[in-house]
Amino acid sequence: MNQPRRVENLQTDKGRVPVYATGIVEQPWADYSAVDHDVWRQLYERQRQLLVGRASDEFLVAQDAMGMSPDRIPKFSELNRVLRDATGWELIGVEGLLPELDFFDHLANRRFPVTWWIRRPDQVDYIEEPDLFHDLFGHVPLLMNPLFADYMQAYGRGGVKAHGIGPEALVNLTRLYWYTVEFGLIRQQDGLRIYGSGIVSSKGESIHCLESTAPNRIGFDLERIMRTRYRIDSYQKTYFVIDSFEQLIDATEPDFTPIYARLATQESYPAGTVLESDRVYSRGTGEGWASDGDV
Ligand SMILES: [Fe+2]
Repeated sequence: MNQPRRVENLQTDKGRVPVYATGIVEQPWADYSAVDHDVWRQLYERQRQLLVGRASDEFLVAQDAMGMSPDRIPKFSELNRVLRDATGWELIGVEGLLPELDFFDHLANRRFPVTWWIRRPDQVDYIEEPDLFHDLFGHVPLLMNPLFADYMQAYGRGGVKAHGIGPEALVNLTRLYWYTVEFGLIRQQDGLRIYGSGIVSSKGESIHCLESTAPNRIGFDLERIMRTRYRIDSYQKTYFVIDSFEQLIDATEPDFTPIYARLATQESYPAGTVLESDRVYSRGTGEGWASDGDV
């Protein structure tokens, strides 16, 4: 496998992260080694098994519809044929995390950047930065869902705008991405399910977020989320639960500018805070992980 071209490390609100060359790169598919394909297979099989009954139906259906399989690392060009037909999104290969404005601009134009390289076998359980498995297995399936696809584009447009407003607005908006796209839970008829990519691509967090008594599971509330800090170095202390993807679309329709202005005068909440006004879901009980409303 080729080496990604890491440019430098940069201190950001997500901690110290590597920044890569920002250009779009052709997926060097022929260069993936047998070990790379095997890492994909191992992770894919393990997560799929774990996610049946835990991930949202939409996620699992979309992943199958895309034609992803454990057999080999998928080719972006093949996935793109399916994805373009379904929702007009396309995958582009990148070296790794992008500067925020580049990232927002891609999303606003229905391009999803996917890291082309995959982690090493000794990183199967944990890797500190997004790799191909996180991006492709975790993020891409829901781009097949028309509502979620629209939400992602709206987020990109909102990002471009927030970038123009200032760093505090960006902090607020990034929390929305974190608590929905990366670590969101959704309420299905038969209980709470996962749709966030940071969860579906992690074995430990897939179990923790639904089955542990430690984290809070709180009903989605836009401003509450924008005020809530998050952890990057451990499992989340709080997950926000949406009722449907329509809820995300509705919540992101208004102009956030007055919200940013209001939040600028308010304290943020530590990650594990529970407020009296929160709708708290209990841990899933029994087979369906039924959430039984307020506790
Ligand atoms: Fe991600």
